Amino acid sequence: MENKMKKKLIAGNWKLNPTTKTEAIKLAENIKNNTKNFNFEVALCVPSIYLDTINEIIKDSPIKLGAQNCYFEEKGAFTGEISAQMLKDLNCKYVILGHSERRSLFAETDEIINHKIKIAMKNTLIPILCVGESEEQRNKNITDSIIEAQLTADLKDISIDGNNLVIAYEPIWAIGTGKTCSSEEADRVCGLIRNKIAQLYSKDIASKITIQYGGSVKSSTIKEQMKMENIDGALVGGASLIAEEFNLLLQNANN
Ligand code: PGA
Repeated sequence: MENKMKKKLIAGNWKLNPTTKTEAIKLAENIKNNTKNFNFEVALCVPSIYLDTINEIIKDSPIKLGAQNCYFEEKGAFTGEISAQMLKDLNCKYVILGHSERRSLFAETDEIINHKIKIAMKNTLIPILCVGESEEQRNKNITDSIIEAQLTADLKDISIDGNNLVIAYEPIWAIGTGKTCSSEEADRVCGLIRNKIAQLYSKDIASKITIQYGGSVKSSTIKEQMKMENIDGALVGGASLIAEEFNLLLQNANN
């Protein structure tokens, strides 16, 4: 499929880290000082409570701001929740939705994720929709049908144009485990995702959409991953928390 129109994106997913604002500032400043105009976009998806602070640091740099979750209602009596509009107001461009940790630890169903994608898009945030299979599902050889079912359910009644959504293929067994999914297999599943998007929407949209790989991506693996035809970047957890490692990862991705 046509390759030239796809936009590449490497996003750091800080999860529930770092533990203090001071450390968060240091990390963001260090990354900012090393980020140039790479041939891909860089985003930092930080804990909501740090969004405003990190925005101040990166707003005049090429780095984009992202959140890690949002609620599916616009406003009201939902103690503890954060809305898509609030994220937009704090200058977020991206919001990670459907991460496997949210699916498994916070009981988020495909239906909930679908509602969240809708509200995020309504507020012109670009969701980074995560899909991926568990180790058990992989061993049962049902990886492909699991991914296709997630995409179908998560994107139900949602119109996409190839630029308003990013998809991240994150095999659960490779997240935070150091176990790597081979670049060939990651590329195969990202290709499967692209074909499903072509089937659900159109070939043109499928050729434009950014599909990332995530799961123990490191500075030592990124070069090979970025070379694969269907991998348009990475969603990086652990390696985005150490400035030197993340900066090296970005440099290696650019070469
Ligand atoms: P990891 O996390 O890079 O630490 O495996 C990736 C993710 O969960 O997005």
